[in-house]
Amino acid sequence: MSAPPAPAFWWGVATSAHQVDGGTDQNDWTRWARAGRVPEAGRACDHWNRFAEDLDRFAALGLNAYRFSLEWSRLEPRPGVDDPEAWDHYRAVVEGCRRRGIEPLVTLSHFTLPAWLADAGGWLAPDAVGRFVRFTGEAVRRLGPVRLWCTVNEPSVLAVMGYLRGVWPPGERSLRRTWQVLARLVRAHRAAYRTIKATRPDAWVGLAHHVIRFRPRTPGLGDRLAAAFADALFNRWTIARCGPEQDYIGVNYYTCHWADWHRPFDPLPAVDDTRPRTQMGWVVDPEGFYDVLKAVGRHGRPVLVTENGIATDRDEERQAFLVAHLEALARARAEGVDIRGYFYWSAFDNYEWAEGYVPHFGLYAVDPVTLERRERPSARLFSRYARAGPPSVSGPPAPR
Ligand code: FCB
Repeated sequence: MSAPPAPAFWWGVATSAHQVDGGTDQNDWTRWARAGRVPEAGRACDHWNRFAEDLDRFAALGLNAYRFSLEWSRLEPRPGVDDPEAWDHYRAVVEGCRRRGIEPLVTLSHFTLPAWLADAGGWLAPDAVGRFVRFTGEAVRRLGPVRLWCTVNEPSVLAVMGYLRGVWPPGERSLRRTWQVLARLVRAHRAAYRTIKATRPDAWVGLAHHVIRFRPRTPGLGDRLAAAFADALFNRWTIARCGPEQDYIGVNYYTCHWADWHRPFDPLPAVDDTRPRTQMGWVVDPEGFYDVLKAVGRHGRPVLVTENGIATDRDEERQAFLVAHLEALARARAEGVDIRGYFYWSAFDNYEWAEGYVPHFGLYAVDPVTLERRERPSARLFSRYARAGPPSVSGPPAPR
């Protein structure tokens, strides 16, 4: 495993192309939206055109990393045919990061697929992995020296939402297909891992796992088993299956679920909980974050928090969320978990999949008409952390 090309700690924000770029209308999600299943992303945050000023914002906060994704449908609009201008665009983003002292972390696949691949069967198309490997190879060749890579975002969420619950594209409801797609995504990750490492052995490659803290709904044995079962299936399976082919374990953490043995495949959001909910209907559970980091740390690999954030219009809530979660992270780190970085989700109020533009995760609010960004106080708070180096158990760094 190669050492991270590293400062002491990566501090960044995370975004994904379909959620911020705008104009991503050749993918399965836009199609799904036009079929009336979800709101349409439209021009999103127009990050495609405003990325330079956005990178200035991140640099002004003192961030030293930025996680963003490539929109495959734009880069390869027809099978095997690349769009050089679209590649130039993402290369400019990479270079723009570099010039500002920001390390780019490039996500190859963040939920969306080109419409042509979706038509051919999506991730379950016979040649899907081969197609992904080709795309990965192009990315490595065309983007210049990118050292941090995330192959696939949240395989288990994509599988559950798209193939079990059927609420995301392709809208299937089949346990068998859910497993098939999960296994396929793991294969895609491993193949992409090898592709990147063959050209850039010094790259640091992993994927972002969505990790939920499953708690038993009651102390009874049935619910405890249900929690362990949900944890094994949803959290641990993909981490274990990716095996040594992950230089870091990427963790996206948001909340906890209650497991109920009556509904083993459908763990509940924290129903009995009296704690306030976010705009996603999620409870805030920093202790769950600590537990998750400790559990993931047991794999003995470096950990990157590739996403963590809150959807709220009350910025004080976001600030409290940051303080509590960074305290949990610092504690896990002080106890020996090798955590190398933290990416807040997200830079901007953006397109939140089936929820459209309702949830507001941003360190920056975005005016829905002018698309102007307005910095929230939580951005300043995050900046204090970023400038102070690795997170410490002694709480938020003082303003300078
Ligand atoms: C994660 C996704 C990300 C965003 C957050 C809120 O599951 O990776 O795109 O939607 O949730």
